[in-house]
Amino acid sequence: MSRTLKRPPRAFWCRAMLWTVAALAVAFGAVQLVPYGRDHSNPPPTNDFRWNDAGAETIARESCYDCHSNETEWWWATSIAPFSWLVQRDADEGREHLNFSEWTGDLTPEAMQDAVDEEMPPWQYLVIHWGARLSEEEKRTLVDGFASSLQAN
Ligand code: HEC
Repeated sequence: MSRTLKRPPRAFWCRAMLWTVAALAVAFGAVQLVPYGRDHSNPPPTNDFRWNDAGAETIARESCYDCHSNETEWWWATSIAPFSWLVQRDADEGREHLNFSEWTGDLTPEAMQDAVDEEMPPWQYLVIHWGARLSEEEKRTLVDGFASSLQAN
């Protein structure tokens, strides 16, 4: 047995672990006090986009409306920091760029196609909402349905 390798006693590690857990618990509690991220507003729609294609509407509601409408589903975890901060930022920024509840007529089918081909829905959303992932067929249904609905808006 080598005597040069002196390890701290097991009790030391137990205590260090307990302190770490306690510190994390305190930090977790403290971040809950930050007001940002608890807004959770879903203001009344000013101009709802009117879909005339039920398939496209279902896809949009499932994959886009949490960030691009005033019908965000604020489920329980969206109240828990720091997750709540990320969700709030996505919804605020998403609504700013495109809001199906406050339709302004700015989005073209081409721009929607680009968005779903590139980064929409964003990966951090898909990690949690696996069902929001779009197949090529769903992208086509969504963009074609959006294009045909545009005339009604
Ligand atoms: C997790 C929130 C989230 C979801 C879900 C989401 N988006 Fe977005 N979207 C954003 C954010 C944030 C931006 C603005 C920043 C950026 O471009 O990354 C954006 C930007 C866009 C833009 C660009 C608008 C412009 O100004 O040109 C389009 C188009 C778009 N999204 C379409 C979609 C479509 C279609 C879906 C559903 C298939 C979708 N998004 C789902 C958050 C989201």
